[in-house]
Amino acid sequence: MIAHRAFPVEPWGVREQSLDLDVLAQTESVFALSNGHIGLRGNLDEGEPHVIPGTYLNAFYELRPLPYAEAGYGYPESGQTVVNVTNGKLIRLLVDDEPFDIRYGRVLVHERFLDLRAGVLRRHVEWKSPAGRSVRVRTTRLVSFAHRSVAAILYEVEPLDARCRVTVQSELVANEPSHTAEKDPRAAAALESPLRSEHVERQDGKVVLVHATRRSGLRMAAGMSHVVDGPPDTETQTESGEDLGRVTTSVRLEPGQRLRIVKFVAYAWSSQRSIPALRDQVDGSLAQARHAGWEGLLTAQREYLDAFWLRADVELEGDEELQQAVRFALFHVLQSGARAEQRAIPAKGLTGPGYDGHCFWDTETYVLQVLTYTAPGAARDALCWRHATLDLARERAQQLGLGGATFPWRTIRGQECSGYWPAGTAAFHINADISDAVVRYICATGDTYFEQEHGLELLVETARLWRSLGHHGPDGRFRIDGVTGPDEYSAIADNNIYTNLMAQRNLLAAARVVERHPERAAELAVDAEEAASWRDAAAAVVVPYDTSLQVHPQAEGFTRHQVWDFAHTPASKYPLLLNYPYFDIYRKQVVKQADLVLALYLRGDAFTPDEKARDFAYYEPLTVRDSSLSACIQAIVAAEVGHLELAYDYFGEAALMDLDDLEHNVRDGVHMASLAGAWLAAVAGFGGMRDHDGDLTFAPRLPQALGRLTFRLTHRSSLVKVDVTHEQAVYVLLDGPPITVAHHGERLELQVGRPITRAVPAALALDVPRQPPGREPEHRSRA
Ligand code: BGC
Repeated sequence: MIAHRAFPVEPWGVREQSLDLDVLAQTESVFALSNGHIGLRGNLDEGEPHVIPGTYLNAFYELRPLPYAEAGYGYPESGQTVVNVTNGKLIRLLVDDEPFDIRYGRVLVHERFLDLRAGVLRRHVEWKSPAGRSVRVRTTRLVSFAHRSVAAILYEVEPLDARCRVTVQSELVANEPSHTAEKDPRAAAALESPLRSEHVERQDGKVVLVHATRRSGLRMAAGMSHVVDGPPDTETQTESGEDLGRVTTSVRLEPGQRLRIVKFVAYAWSSQRSIPALRDQVDGSLAQARHAGWEGLLTAQREYLDAFWLRADVELEGDEELQQAVRFALFHVLQSGARAEQRAIPAKGLTGPGYDGHCFWDTETYVLQVLTYTAPGAARDALCWRHATLDLARERAQQLGLGGATFPWRTIRGQECSGYWPAGTAAFHINADISDAVVRYICATGDTYFEQEHGLELLVETARLWRSLGHHGPDGRFRIDGVTGPDEYSAIADNNIYTNLMAQRNLLAAARVVERHPERAAELAVDAEEAASWRDAAAAVVVPYDTSLQVHPQAEGFTRHQVWDFAHTPASKYPLLLNYPYFDIYRKQVVKQADLVLALYLRGDAFTPDEKARDFAYYEPLTVRDSSLSACIQAIVAAEVGHLELAYDYFGEAALMDLDDLEHNVRDGVHMASLAGAWLAAVAGFGGMRDHDGDLTFAPRLPQALGRLTFRLTHRSSLVKVDVTHEQAVYVLLDGPPITVAHHGERLELQVGRPITRAVPAALALDVPRQPPGREPEHRSRA
């Protein structure tokens, strides 16, 4: 956890005012830059000190064995793990004879600033070498949104008091020594020297290195070229080796003189393309970057982000800290998917090696909700990636003796990589999560091309899975037995309500989509009988209810289990999964993360308001939030049922997960689902936004501390702005065709130029539920 306020509060950026090595690991993740294709951790330009050096290319992975003490049928045999690829961000500096390293000499100024509008990481250092030479170094780093394969760095150095010799070594380094692996299973497996050199090319000021992985059969190229601007006697030399490219610039600088270097870096990778093809691709990208020039790259970056913020910004009045956190969150969510282009969006984006770089349901259930309404092209691409992995998912279903397709619980390229089946293979809900994201995307965009080409097949194959996984019991009800829901502290349960209700939506959506596109359906051999069987199953889905407690058990029998002994569980024993055996956790009432409560949100159309209030009150004292995926969902449902202050606390937790390192593991990468959850807590929580089957509704209400909440979203090409205060909500159509929305149940027809204002009804006063002792969220009012 970052105990002190590491970053001062400001609206459009995250600033570190002095370098604190105790939080270096955290800042490497927080300051990571990415466009969804390339990811650069916020490592210092000079490379050291570092905790985890990281440069990633989306979906560029290595295989690693998954050893089992006791193997079983259908266990995946190898895992995929993200590779720290050739580092192109290294720029070392020598001042006279001494290396610039902040551990030596004196650091006079050290500031870093992640600029959320410009999309760059800036650094300003003033340093006195041990021999007493002072220099100022300013760098600006970007990973281009406009040029997918390009990153660039502006590096400027000048003497502060006396003349000195400076030497700048701009490098490309492959096979950097990796960080030490941790015992925590969530941390990534370490990979030593994953890359084998295949080709090196060197020209003046330019180097291209081509490498291949040892096992996964992937090839990558990294290239750099430079524009050097210094006094007339500036000299540049270019060297290369198998794992090293180096462009060295030397000059003697007088005070007032400056050496300015623009470093362009380009990446390419492929599982099929040849060495020359990748080399040429990188050369081409470098040529494009040079053609755009540093200023051109900066301008394009700004334009891209201006357009994004126009559609996506969330404004808060009354809580500047959360204002900053929400924008930081949106920025990282955008970075994770902007140019991923039919690759996965990992749980940590490309900000660190956590979870081996794997993508989970986090993408569809959290990240894609945000992208669907703010950057729909990125949401489409992520779903197209799932579609591209359908053959693997069909094979997996076959292997498991099931129909249709079974998507992997965790993966990089589509193969199942979870070695722990009770919380992996058995978490079948991921299939409904994917189809839910498909339905949401289609409803929100009206993208019929996607529906026909990709969506339909995803819906059909997942519906087939549910039809074969579940069965009609003797009473005719449709049961889905022996699966694991979102709460990973219960496993292999019968009729998990979240799973059943999401499967129901999946089955119905599939039945509807085949009606709309009979020819495509016929190509997939869907006949009327099959579609009818989906409808029958959906209509008969079991939703257990505990009539004595008047609540929904998250799965059959759950409310009869013994309640976890919270009173005797000290704070140091959380997260429970690291301190207690699963067998014990599984047979008790203790909830890792929102499960039934997630159903109350995503399938809110299946519960009455009273049921929601009772269910929420029941699950609060059982939910320990050992997963970062929980707080935002609890915020949304708390807000809906009327616990606005509690919702606000959870909003704070979701939004500050990374800036405050609440789970002590941001070093491994930021928590993309929780960051997306910050937006969800604001928009679906206090904005009360729901989009069941394309019906866009709002029910806004604010907690005391927030004076105003303004957000924007795009629905079917209509850009809507909602501006909420305690008294009223104003709905504005900023752009696009008229659209019907609802405000607390009242229909409103929005047209451009005609804002509609409605009063905000007061929330019901309810008893505030308690959380397990010691697991209460931090109260924002006290924060
Ligand atoms: C959560 C999962 C999540 C995964 C990756 C786990 O701790 O329980 O729901 O998908 O982390 O974020």
